[in-house]
Amino acid sequence: MDITQKLSLLGGLTPEQFMRRHWHKKPLLIRQALPGLQPLLSRAELFELAGREDVESRLIARGDQGWSLKRGPLTRRALPPLTRPGWTLLVQGVDLHQQAVHELLQQFRFVPDARVDDLMISYATDTGGVGPHFDSYDVFLLQVQGRRRWRIGRLADPALLPGMPLKILENFVAEQEWVLEPGDMLYLPPRWAHDGVADGECMTYSVGFRAPSRAELAREVVVRMLEALDEDAVEVLYRDPDQPATTTPGALPLGLNAFARDAVADLLHDEDSFACALGEYLSEPKPQVWFEVGEGQDLSAGVRLDRRSRMMYDERHIFFNGESYRAAGRDARLMRTLADTRSLDAKQVAQLSPDARALLEQWADDGWLHPL
Ligand code: SIN
Ligand code: CO
Repeated sequence: MDITQKLSLLGGLTPEQFMRRHWHKKPLLIRQALPGLQPLLSRAELFELAGREDVESRLIARGDQGWSLKRGPLTRRALPPLTRPGWTLLVQGVDLHQQAVHELLQQFRFVPDARVDDLMISYATDTGGVGPHFDSYDVFLLQVQGRRRWRIGRLADPALLPGMPLKILENFVAEQEWVLEPGDMLYLPPRWAHDGVADGECMTYSVGFRAPSRAELAREVVVRMLEALDEDAVEVLYRDPDQPATTTPGALPLGLNAFARDAVADLLHDEDSFACALGEYLSEPKPQVWFEVGEGQDLSAGVRLDRRSRMMYDERHIFFNGESYRAAGRDARLMRTLADTRSLDAKQVAQLSPDARALLEQWADDGWLHPL
């Protein structure tokens, strides 16, 4: 992607300017970010997705008793009648199921893949919404069908309404208000209060991001580093030939403390193991994802990644769907191109070494990528 090119998607800003001025900093309303945008999924198709076991969905309604939340799978019969106002259906991860939605998400790849979460679709009947709230993540809210009135404001008071099944701000103060029409988009940084209310039947697509916490990263990385510990380390036992006779048998030997400290320090200082663990974690596919195996396909015309595949890299490794591979030289360059562009053409495939080509064939068999 040319990050110096002005995009109507970003209201005439270049991705560079957008990231510098708005990303994580301040909201941006973009009228006609995607002019002429048509829904990529019909209402019936969205409802069908909401009924599936492998799709995360939620039904939110506001009634006399306050807010209600029902988690999916939601069959058609679990949804209120279309004539009833005030309810909304949220379907997560639609990009994993629908190629056109996956392709729409690609327009946001001026943000690293490791930060992108998914595309969620919300359907609402008139006055439907999820109430005034704030999210911990950046979001692009793209109006796709019908109109939605958005009110937003700085988060002055994060207190939530008590006893509700979802997070509703107790004291939401709107500073700005707009009605979004199909093709319009609103970008919000994390922790901006917002409330979107459907003005008639409406569909909104949210491009959501993931920001792992320090604790989550530390846990996931260390768990993987431990799993990768080689057999040698397992067999190194504590030895104490110099242990004198003790009159305080309850006291922990200092040597044992130092031995353990050393083992932990060695584990954490293993740069390669750290890089692999991090890349494997960040490239892990979503838990509900499975790939269809394909056997013995001809890849000579080129390859493209499956829409569910997550491929990333660092200076020394390629990470693909939770696996890591060491890569150097021309193979590494080509694999990085595959990660960045999600495809390789015939000429690029022909330049791969026999080993890398064999890997490509293995990945095609696994359903992680497909022939062009
Ligand atoms: C919605 O699309 O209804 C909710 C999205 C959000 O507020 O984050
Ligand atoms: Co929100």
